Amino acid sequence: METATPRKVEHQQTDRGYVPVYATGVVEQPWSGYSRTDHEVWDTLFKRQCEMLPGRACQEFLDGVKKFGLGAGGIPKFADINTVLAKATGWELVAVEGLLPDEVFFDHLANRRFPVSWWIRKPEQLDYLSEPDLFHDLFGHVPLLLNPVFADYMQAYGRGGMKAHAIGPEALMNLTRLYWYTVEFGLIDTRDGMRIYGAGIVSSKGESIYSLDADAPNRIGFDLARVMNTRYRIDTYQQTYFVIDSFEQLFEATTPDFTPIYARLRDKTPHAAADVLEETDRVFHYGSHEGFATNADT
Ligand code: PHE
Ligand code: FE
Repeated sequence: METATPRKVEHQQTDRGYVPVYATGVVEQPWSGYSRTDHEVWDTLFKRQCEMLPGRACQEFLDGVKKFGLGAGGIPKFADINTVLAKATGWELVAVEGLLPDEVFFDHLANRRFPVSWWIRKPEQLDYLSEPDLFHDLFGHVPLLLNPVFADYMQAYGRGGMKAHAIGPEALMNLTRLYWYTVEFGLIDTRDGMRIYGAGIVSSKGESIYSLDADAPNRIGFDLARVMNTRYRIDTYQQTYFVIDSFEQLFEATTPDFTPIYARLRDKTPHAAADVLEETDRVFHYGSHEGFATNADT
């Protein structure tokens, strides 16, 4: 990887002393360090998701998985993925240790670099882990970076993130909710039926089924300000999924300047994750809310 710095650098000796430098968090993917178990975890998760996702994930996602050859056996090399990505949409994967500070993450996206955790979960964590690992980041997020519209959306999000960060924490929260309900947990209404595009869903066996089939959660048409004003769950499956009509719709809805929207939302109470707004929501499915956690949403 040409742009990768060899390891995390947070301070650097200069003529004028020891100064902090921009920490991009980028490392080199330690590919030869993966154990046999690591490769087997990838293969197991890959096989499990690929058996289930046809007819559930959107075609753009399935096409991406195929084009990258993610099922060739073992953990893919980022360098190989990058060869394909560079040609298709100019994106590039960078390996990281884990979650990055917001500004660093936004800066990567704004420059069409997608940070991917280099390490993979343990065999006893196939169904759930609390932080993103290589399987979630790579299998979940990267296939759609081959889609030109989605690829542009992700970059625009990075730029928007820098702006929201400068405006303040409330704006940043509004933007984070947009990411959560689209990039991570989005559904798309296609000619063939409702499909998944969110990375948090496609990388989870349980939620790949639940998000489409369960009676409990709401499925509501995407509306920008509505989404940005809705809390979410980090500890359970989502209580509401928002449904886009197309990636073009998502891109176009998010193109206008968010500054006035942030200002308007500042004095509004956010909706709970389970709320249905009877007057304004375009309801695809009114959830039964059965078994919903009632403790506070994020
Ligand atoms: N248009 C948004 C803004 O002005 C930027 C953005 C684009 C945010 C796409 C998210 C997704 O802040
Ligand atoms: Fe993610």
